[in-house]
This record gives sequence, structure tokens and C-alpha cells, in this order.
Amino acid sequence: LRLFVPRDAGALAVGADAVADALRAGIERRGLSAEIVRTGSRGLYWLEPMVEVATAQGRIAFGPVTAADVEPLLAAGLLSGGAHELRLGAPEAIPFLQRQTRLTFARCGIVDPLSLDDYRAHGGWRGLERAIALPPADIVEAVVQSGLRGRGGAGFPTGIKWRTVAQAPADQKYIVCNADEGDSGTFADRMLMEGDPFVLIEGMAIAGIAVGATKGYVYIRSEYPHAIATLRAAIIVARAAGFLGATVMGTPHAFELEVRVGAGAYVCGEETALLDSLEGKRGQVRAKPPLPAHHGLFGRPTVINNVLSLAAVPFILGEGAAAYAALGVGRSRGTMPIQLAGNIRHGGLFEAAFGLTLGELVDEIGGGTASGRPVRAVQVGGPLGAYFPRALFDTPFDYEAFAARDGLLGHGGIVVFDDTVDMARQARFAMEFCAIESCGKCTPCRIGSTRGTEVIDRLIRGEGDAASHLALITDLCETLKFGSLCALGGFTPYPVMSAIRHFPEDFRAAAVSSL
Ligand code: NAI
Ligand code: SF4
Repeated sequence: LRLFVPRDAGALAVGADAVADALRAGIERRGLSAEIVRTGSRGLYWLEPMVEVATAQGRIAFGPVTAADVEPLLAAGLLSGGAHELRLGAPEAIPFLQRQTRLTFARCGIVDPLSLDDYRAHGGWRGLERAIALPPADIVEAVVQSGLRGRGGAGFPTGIKWRTVAQAPADQKYIVCNADEGDSGTFADRMLMEGDPFVLIEGMAIAGIAVGATKGYVYIRSEYPHAIATLRAAIIVARAAGFLGATVMGTPHAFELEVRVGAGAYVCGEETALLDSLEGKRGQVRAKPPLPAHHGLFGRPTVINNVLSLAAVPFILGEGAAAYAALGVGRSRGTMPIQLAGNIRHGGLFEAAFGLTLGELVDEIGGGTASGRPVRAVQVGGPLGAYFPRALFDTPFDYEAFAARDGLLGHGGIVVFDDTVDMARQARFAMEFCAIESCGKCTPCRIGSTRGTEVIDRLIRGEGDAASHLALITDLCETLKFGSLCALGGFTPYPVMSAIRHFPEDFRAAAVSSL
């Protein structure tokens, strides 16, 4: 008898531990014994805690289950997948999962995150096995051919980055994984590290062998204690089994891995600030060039990639670059783990090939707002992403299509707002966020964001001349866009100006049309 209860932080937050305890007690009371496997989440967060039971017909899911539901569920025959109003049927048949193409998240929510047997039984280590049989340059070439682009947000081709590091002469090189997932509405890095940590370890080991790096660091934000604990435990298991250490899988390649914990600054998700932080300094943005690929951690050539970029690599090596490149549209190849959040009915992780429209994602897959009110605005790409109105819902999820409409995909987070949102306040929030999180290195970001917040405040309060306030904000945004050293200052204009452009009625329409 096997049951599956997530221990993902999102499921724990809504009572998964209490559900597991109640199940254990209820099963014991019946004189039965069952194994309760603690998995990651399938990513259907509105159904968490989602309990699954292994039956002769495959797994049957129930959710959302509370501790109080457990006794009635057991009485109704939960253990044999029996009928109950919380019965969801086979998880793979739930439309939200059925419509996905899960490559990176193939195992998440299914396996025991720390079981090597589970990992291997579900296709684990195939990519690394294939990689160690190849010359390193061919591994890099496979990643180039796959078309994989940086999933952290900027979308730079991962294989080209690896090639730069592979060709840089040095006595020591590093692989750094950016797990400082700070974008609002995003949780894919966390979910993966909690639900399938070996896929990240495998991807980093492949990267190390490809570019000749023997040491890797995963920089995880301190707000992710469960991910930190799971990844640390997984590294110990992988090392003991010979997948990390002096001889990776018995080869002459050495690769060691260490988790480092951030201290809560958003800007430490910017790659050069992250490297400073890893070196033990205050996390401040460095000027580029030199690129981290040439002069990165401790001045050595460094591959720095997001969790999702590295975790896509085992599939690419295992199944072939062509299988990955066959999915997607234009220059956006493969799949993107999209995160649906905010005021949305079906919030969660939706991995799909690029190309779905924003409208399909929000209205059909996400089911509209949780409040039941009309969707008014959607912010894509984190706090520095643009706000899109319904009129732009035909935009396909694709790096270039979003850029063409002055937006960005970022890390794939979509935050939904209903018609009660005040877009002037959202614009103020973006400016204030920049002011709070600025590292202080450049003037437009350090000082301009504070002045910008004050001007929007005056506009909201109706003080002075609205048209001149808006002209000043527009001018300031131009300065931020072109005069900032990093994306924090450089991208703050996206949410501010998109709010003004697409929702002028919230900024006193007459003043906006005079711009
Ligand atoms: P960027 O365009 O400066 O760089 C992208 C990457 O490509 C960097 O790793 C850079 O070192 C590398 N690169 C550029 N040219 C190269 C070359 N010739 N050879 C080798 N490597 C090269 O963008 P940046 O500032 O690193 O990232 C900005 C993005 O970060 C934004 O689009 C935003 O969406 C995203 N972001 C993500 C967050 C998250 O939580 N994941 C939080 C905040 C921002
Ligand atoms: Fe620092 Fe802001 Fe300049 Fe980025 S734009 S380097 S966060 S001051």
C-alpha cells in the first residue's frame, strides 16, 4: 500500500504535514500498514494538499485534502481509490496536467525527491551517461543545437555561454547556479529543487564536464529553507553514489557541488552581484564587460545559469538536442515552465512548448480570476515586467513576441489582476520596489526611483499639474532605461510605462493623452 503526499513548501503551507499525520494515524487505527511517500508537488496548487494512492489502475488523486477530510476519505475507500467528492481520478487525466509537455518537470510530484532508485527508474542520469561518453566540445554543441536559452529571464543562448567558458583558458573554472528566484509570482526553481533535486545536480555535472569546471555552487535565497535542505541532502546522496566527487561516474572528471544561502537582496539575483555575494562581499553589481564567462567567480571563467536552464540539460543530452529543438516557435525553442499566480483560479506550474498565447494561458488554462471578476491586467516577467491589458492577450509566449510589444518573459511568471486593481498604485509599487532594492551603484536607480515614487504619489493625490508629472515620469524612465548598469534600474520603466500607456484612465486620461 503506497500513498503520496507532497512536502513541497506550497503544499506544506496549506497543511500537507497534518494530512500525512492524519493518514498515518487513520491507517494504523485500521490495523493496516502503508508507505507514505513524501513527493514534490505536481504544481496544481489550487488542489493542494493533493494526495495520491497507488492502485492496480495506476495512481488516483484526491484534493484538496484537509486533515479533517482524512477519516471520511478512509471510510469511503481512499486506499483503493474509492468514490468521494474529493476524488480527482488519474492525475495525468486532469486537463491542467494533460495539456502540458513536461520535460524539465517530468518527475516532479511523482518521485521521492531523495530516492536514487526513483530517479533512475524515471529516466534519471541518462543525460550524464551520454555526456561522459562524448568529447566535452560535443556536449557544448548539443546544448547549442537544442536552442536552449537562459531561463532566468534574459534568454541568452546557453550553449554559446558554455562555449565561451569552455574556450577560456584557466586553471580553475566554476559552474554557478542562480537559485535566487526573486521575481514576483515565480516558484519554478523552488518547486524543482524540492521535488526533483537530482535533475539539477545532473545538469550541473554535465555543465562541469562540458566546460572543464570541477566546482559548482548553487546560490539559493534564504527564503527557501525547504529547497535548501532538500538540495543539500540530495548532494550528499549523489556524492555517496558516485555522481559527484573526484571521479564522476567512474570517469577522470571531478565535480563537487556546494549550496550557498543568500541574505535576501533582490539584486543578488543579478549575476555579478550574486558572484560578489558568493565571494563573501556585499552583493553589488559589477560593470560588464568583463563577462562572468571570462572573469567570473574569484576572477575565473564561470558558467552562471538559472536552475531551469541547467535542469533542462539532462533531457537535451539524454533524448537528443533535436527532440528539444523540435518544440517551440521561432527562436524560442523547447519548453518553458510557466508559473500562473496572483488572482487566478487555477494557479500553478504549467510547462509547455513556447507559442501559447497569453489569453490561452490566463483564460483557458488558468480559468480566469480566483475572485470571479474580469481580468484587467496581467504582469509577465516579475516586478520588472510589463503590464499587459486584455487587448494584448493574443501575444504568443515567445521571447521575441513579448519584446516586440515592450514586454518580457523574464522567468516565466504571470501575475493576474482583476478589475479592482489600481494601475497608478501598481506603477508606484514598481518605482518603490526599485528604490528599496537598488544596490546604490548608479544614480538614476538609487535617487531617481525615490524621486519617481514621490512624483507618482503627487499624481495619485491630485497635487499640481498631472501632465507635467507624467512628462517627468516619462523622462525619468528614459534615463533609467538607458543609464542603469543592470536590469533592476533598466527594466523598472517596463511596469511603470506599460501601466501608463495601457491604463491611462487610472492616471487621469487627459494628462496621458497630452504626452
Ligand atoms: P544580460 O542580457 O546582460 O545577460 C544575459 C546572460 O548572457 C548573462 O549571463 C551574460 O553574462 C551572458 N552573456 C551575454 N553576452 C555573452 C557572451 N557574448 N558570451 C557569453 N555570455 C554572454 O541580462 P541579465 O542582466 O543577466 O539578466 C536580466 C534578466 O534577468 C531580465 O530579463 C529579467 O527578466 C531577469 N530577472 C530574473 C529574475 C529571477 O527571479 N529569475 C529576477 C530579476 C530579473
Ligand atoms: Fe545597482 Fe540599480 Fe545600478 Fe542595478 S541599476 S547596478 S541595482 S544602482
